[in-house]
Amino acid sequence: MVKKRVAIIGAGISGLTGIKSCLEEGLEPTCFERRNDIGGLWNFTKHVEDGCPSIYKSLVSNISKETFCFSDFPMPENFPNFLPNAKYLEYCKLYAEHFQLLKYIKFKNFEANQTTVCQVQKHSDFDSNGQWVVTTENDGEKATTVFDAVTVCSGQYVYPLLPLDSFPDVNKFKGKILHCREYKEPMEFDGKKVLIIGLGNSGADLASELCTKASQKVYLSSKRGVCMFRRLGRDGYPFDLSFITRFQNWIQLTGPPALSRFLYEKYMNDQFDHGFYDIKPECIEMKEPLVNEELPSRILAGLVIMKPGITKFTETSAQFVDGTTVDNLDVVIFATGYEVRFPFMDESVIQADFNEGFLYKNIFPVNLQKPTLFFIGFIQPVGSIAATVEIQNRWAMRLFKVVAAASVKFPSNKEMKEQLVENEKLRMKRFGTAKGNCRRVNYIEYMDDLASNINAKPNIMKLLLTDPVLGLKIIFGTTTPYQYRLTGPGKWAGAREAILTQWDRIEKPLKTRGMKKTIGRSFLSVRYLPSVLPWFICAVILFVAIWIKG
Ligand SMILES: Cc1cc2nc3c(=O)[nH]c(=O)nc-3n(C[C@H](O)[C@H](O)[C@H](O)COP(=O)(O)OP(=O)(O)OC[C@H]3O[C@@H](n4cnc5c(N)ncnc54)[C@H](O)[C@@H]3O)c2cc1C
Ligand SMILES: *[C@@H]1O[C@H](CO)[C@@H](O)[C@H](O)[C@H]1NC(C)=O
Ligand SMILES: *[C@@H]1O[C@H](CO)[C@@H](O)[C@H](O)[C@H]1NC(C)=O
Repeated sequence: MVKKRVAIIGAGISGLTGIKSCLEEGLEPTCFERRNDIGGLWNFTKHVEDGCPSIYKSLVSNISKETFCFSDFPMPENFPNFLPNAKYLEYCKLYAEHFQLLKYIKFKNFEANQTTVCQVQKHSDFDSNGQWVVTTENDGEKATTVFDAVTVCSGQYVYPLLPLDSFPDVNKFKGKILHCREYKEPMEFDGKKVLIIGLGNSGADLASELCTKASQKVYLSSKRGVCMFRRLGRDGYPFDLSFITRFQNWIQLTGPPALSRFLYEKYMNDQFDHGFYDIKPECIEMKEPLVNEELPSRILAGLVIMKPGITKFTETSAQFVDGTTVDNLDVVIFATGYEVRFPFMDESVIQADFNEGFLYKNIFPVNLQKPTLFFIGFIQPVGSIAATVEIQNRWAMRLFKVVAAASVKFPSNKEMKEQLVENEKLRMKRFGTAKGNCRRVNYIEYMDDLASNINAKPNIMKLLLTDPVLGLKIIFGTTTPYQYRLTGPGKWAGAREAILTQWDRIEKPLKTRGMKKTIGRSFLSVRYLPSVLPWFICAVILFVAIWIKG
């Protein structure tokens, strides 16, 4: 039988796991990458390239290695817990080599390939065969190929969002204006007076880095504040070890909203009092949290000055809603985020406003008749993007394969649309995001949902009876991606071992003075349990109270 052919656009972490999922399902992948190497965003380049992601030199991952790895390929023991971008890229390369993925990727310079995807169109017989015509180009030369399915892995942090219209008179400003995507290193800002707009991951990183270089004072404007975590969690352990656990997530989802808000706020302020630093968010669920440990100490040192929203610019200054002004500005950096764009896709396939949501399970366009087009990595879970895109790819390729073999009934377009409306209601309740940020999902719930569709979700009740140590680790320990390789298709024999040894890999990179390992920590990795204890006690008290009352 001829293998079904799948085109994958982009060789970042979404594309790499895409290739692997294709192979797992016995499909034939062809990955197009417009650049010359894998890793997408994690490959730091000195210059910004159009249509490619771009990061700053000092970027360090905001989740730790046991969460940020792929589900069947633990990171090398000696890799640090939070990875500088080059180290994460190294990991991606190890992954690609180990599973021999490189031979399926067409890069820019190899064999004069056409590797920038410039158009993806429905085949003229799409209604019967579901195929796509993919056009690629390089230096003006074009080539077209027909594929049975297309997976879009082109990244969600590529096209800068520069909402200049909402900043009156910004065009009058005589200094330099740039988007954070163009920021690479602090050198060129020596002695400059800098204002950064937007308090997200990038805004916070840039401010804490620049303030030591620029004129010892950087202004950081934030309209709404933010909830910030430090990489160093309780007792200095990586914060996600205790923050991303099934147990905690379960309390958050099932407990009364007031309780989960209270606990979230407690967790947030345990790290440092957000009100004291004047960055307390108006509504804590609204915005994604960010991860940064330097900003609070920079604010304490007066190196970073927090500012509210901006009312207008003049030639040299910015005015803020509280009536204050900052004069003699040299540079304004917009850390205002990104917009999702698919310049190679027809508007009949994707709807104009991405944020309104048109993707079933955040993957498949609801208005499409054939399940042969998938969007991977257009999602914002508070957790590991690597693990999320991996399970998305597994779900998509399984679906493509079984539906192609007509062995499974796929929901109708109407059913999928109804599901979207349901999801939106839930999202409004949880995150309070007006006019949908359809990309926000609850990390564990989302992964579990996709995993249960493809029978890869761990059966925890059963594990508690048959393999209690593993079961307890899965409930109370950090939610490592190996959990999704314990059962079902794509099962990996090393998954159990990987979970049981995760603590060793966390500890190893720190023992660089030849000191002995900390004793007794590895059993359940329970050292960080104390941080979930208040949640637990509150939950019990509240449930009992409600039960007595009702
Ligand atoms: C500043 C910053 C920090 C981040 N830090 C973290 C973090 O710490 N932890 C975390 O989990 N996530 C982080 N992220 C999110 C990050 O986007 C993901 O970790 C991940 O890199 C997304 O991978 P991807 O493969 O989906 O997209 P990308 O890495 O963007 O890869 C897309 C690839 O597609 C290629 N491509 C695009 N269009 C085409 C085309 N038309 N034809 C051919 N090729 C094309 C691009 O060249 C690129 O290689 C961060 C994002 C930013 C912006
Ligand atoms: C990043 O990608 C470029 C090609 O765009 C490649 O030449 C370079 O080697 C890559 N960097 C690393 C560290 O692999
Ligand atoms: C890490 O950074 C990315 C990009 O800014 C963001 O989408 C993600 O939510 C962050 N993760 C956490 C755990 O904050």
